Amino acid sequence: MLKYTKISDPEVYGIVEGELKRQEHNIEMIASESTASLEIMELSGSIFTNKTLEGYPGARFQAGSYEADRLEILGIERAKALFGAEHANLQVYSGSTANYGVYASVLKPGDRVLSMRLDQGGHLTHGSPANFFSKVYEYDFYGVNKETEQIDYDELEKKAKEFLPKLIIAGGSSYPRLIDYERICKIAKSVGAYFMVDMAHISGLVAAGVIPSPVPYADFVSSSTTKTLCGPRSGFILCKKEYAKALDKGVFPGSIGSMHLTTMAAKVWLFKHAATEEFKNVMKQVLANGKLLAKELESHGFRIVSGTTDNHIVMVDLRSKGISGKLFQNSLDKVGITVNKNQIPFDPASPFVTSGVRIGVTSITQRGLKENEIKEIADIMDKVASDPENESNLFECKKRTEKLISEFSLYPTGSFND
Ligand SMILES: Cc1ncc(COP(=O)(O)O)c(C=O)c1O
Repeated sequence: MLKYTKISDPEVYGIVEGELKRQEHNIEMIASESTASLEIMELSGSIFTNKTLEGYPGARFQAGSYEADRLEILGIERAKALFGAEHANLQVYSGSTANYGVYASVLKPGDRVLSMRLDQGGHLTHGSPANFFSKVYEYDFYGVNKETEQIDYDELEKKAKEFLPKLIIAGGSSYPRLIDYERICKIAKSVGAYFMVDMAHISGLVAAGVIPSPVPYADFVSSSTTKTLCGPRSGFILCKKEYAKALDKGVFPGSIGSMHLTTMAAKVWLFKHAATEEFKNVMKQVLANGKLLAKELESHGFRIVSGTTDNHIVMVDLRSKGISGKLFQNSLDKVGITVNKNQIPFDPASPFVTSGVRIGVTSITQRGLKENEIKEIADIMDKVASDPENESNLFECKKRTEKLISEFSLYPTGSFND
């Protein structure tokens, strides 16, 4: 691994090697993470890093674009075929810049946007006061029903009629249930709003066809490629044909500069791979593992937000265990299980402490963990929660984690040998 850096900068080399070891020896359950294939790693560091290019195939600002043109055209065709979309833009750098690209294409400063509350499952880039775009557009928010902890569509409709947004956004970073895209699409049309779905988290499940797709209903669909899609650190946007020109202009020059052709190449590979049976089977197993983890944790006395999961995210309310999300995250980290603290709907605790954690099953599923291992993980989590600050308890749990994960390789043996 990194044979040149090893010689020229042993310090950086050591850090990267340390990260490889950390990932190999830990059970990685951050919901926004996945394990990139060796091809994605290879392409993310390819010769294309030397090429600066702006514009679109046939209308570039720099010469020497013929190979890049072939690449981008191939990627657009693959993305359209994979998701059944009329148009695709692959130039955005991430899920965040995908969202900004959509804003830049159809909104003017001061326009109104209705999106899901961040503390009930939405995302920072959907109008959080901490995000710059909250100063550019006027945002209002819908949330979940207190009983079901699922989107309150009646409230969404009422708010849309009162607020009259130009854009309605669905999708988020910690919402474990399916979304009724058809209903939100109808609401958006009834008030003359554009409808955008941010499928950053679930795009792999959508590509595999194991959960419903927003593409038939949404005017714009944004995504990152690192979450369930298991790709490089990047993003993309899909849209209806009628918005293709506006979107491309909103992305470049509207919100980004030159393209990242390295991750572009990795995305093009990814859009072929995500259409394979192999990928579909992993996504099917992601759903099965998520459902089982929710059930097992519930049987250990944890409360599962909304009762279950329909995707790769399990949201856990820790109040029945009398511990905070912060403490549970830190104690799990000590035993080699990586999750993140997360607010749950109507959380009385601050975002820095939280009453819950968000757990994801994509990486462990890619690594081959199934029913027996999910049960063992739930049992370890229960032991940690029962005495989270007792070092000997954590030591015993760590031994179990190490044993479990040592049976599943992160990458085939020898992958990083020079
Ligand atoms: C719903 C949603 N949108 C956008 C993003 C941002 O994606 P990225 O980290 O690729 O910028 C995230 C990331 O967590 C997300 O959950």
